[in-house]
Amino acid sequence: DWTMGAYREEAVAKIREQVGDAKVICALSGGVDSSVAAALIHEAVGDQLTCVFVDHGLLRLNEAEEVVGMFRDHMNLHVIHAEEQELFLGELDGVSDPETKRKIIGKLFIDVFQKYADGIEGARFLAQGTLYPDVIESVSFSGGPSVTIKSHHNVGGLPEKMGLKLVEPLRELFKDEVRALGHELGLPASFIGRHPFPGPGLAIRCPGEITREKLEILRKADAVYIDQIRKHGLYDEIWQAFVAILPVRTVGVMGDGRTYDYACALRAVTSVDGMTADYYPFDHDFLGETATRIINEVKGINRVTYDVTSKPPGTIEWE
Ligand code: XMP
Repeated sequence: DWTMGAYREEAVAKIREQVGDAKVICALSGGVDSSVAAALIHEAVGDQLTCVFVDHGLLRLNEAEEVVGMFRDHMNLHVIHAEEQELFLGELDGVSDPETKRKIIGKLFIDVFQKYADGIEGARFLAQGTLYPDVIESVSFSGGPSVTIKSHHNVGGLPEKMGLKLVEPLRELFKDEVRALGHELGLPASFIGRHPFPGPGLAIRCPGEITREKLEILRKADAVYIDQIRKHGLYDEIWQAFVAILPVRTVGVMGDGRTYDYACALRAVTSVDGMTADYYPFDHDFLGETATRIINEVKGINRVTYDVTSKPPGTIEWE
């Protein structure tokens, strides 16, 4: 694709011009956006880039190991695995309001980056994989006040005191263009094809209070669900799929006993850019089989529902 090839060269030149010989610290979330941003910046400034993968304790099953392994082994990037689970989960303890969760996580992200940036001499820039839809969901309506639909879409408000400037080489791109650019840069297809994953991670898939118990149940259920989707060859047809653990326990029967466990909701949508979405029309055999597997394999869940809300009026995430 000559257009993407030209974009790549232009972007590399712009990054070099912006960064000079300073060091760049990259906010790696593990998603395709930050992966492509990191690959692009690495191409532009090589070893001047250090990636920090913040493990906030809200990641999916085995995700930290997979992401850190992939960046170190396949891309030869310098990656710091910041194990900050205790910090994030501690601050989120007892918090149930969605925007408060985002604000806490966003603030801690910045604190953590500050901490690691301080350890890298000459670090002047912070790279982020912000996309065009993230930018336009935060614009002001003409004549009216600034409206942010959801705070901390990776966008906006890095405090001046942080002393780092932003490098956002994907700001003009939609998701499909980012994937094309990733392909152009030689990233593995399996990584480019990954569903988007939000910065606040499992926090916004755990409506209400976040507990370690709920997170553990959620991780297991999500892994079974994604395994089912892959086994049925549906992964690439879906924009995003995940499980949300509901803040309610319901009664069930299993064997001779009564159970009183969490209910969960399966979510799967098709979309072009995440701004609008349709729920994915699974057939009932798939849904039934998946529900049976989750209830049999995941202790703590005894009821599975399927979310048939499109966006709008729903959002893709539950919070
Ligand atoms: P919604 O739920 O607003 O999500 O329909 C649209 C897309 O954005 C992702 N998302 C987020 N990403 N920080 C992020 O980095 C956030 O706070 C956030 N909230 C939603 C969501 O996963 C979907 O891809």
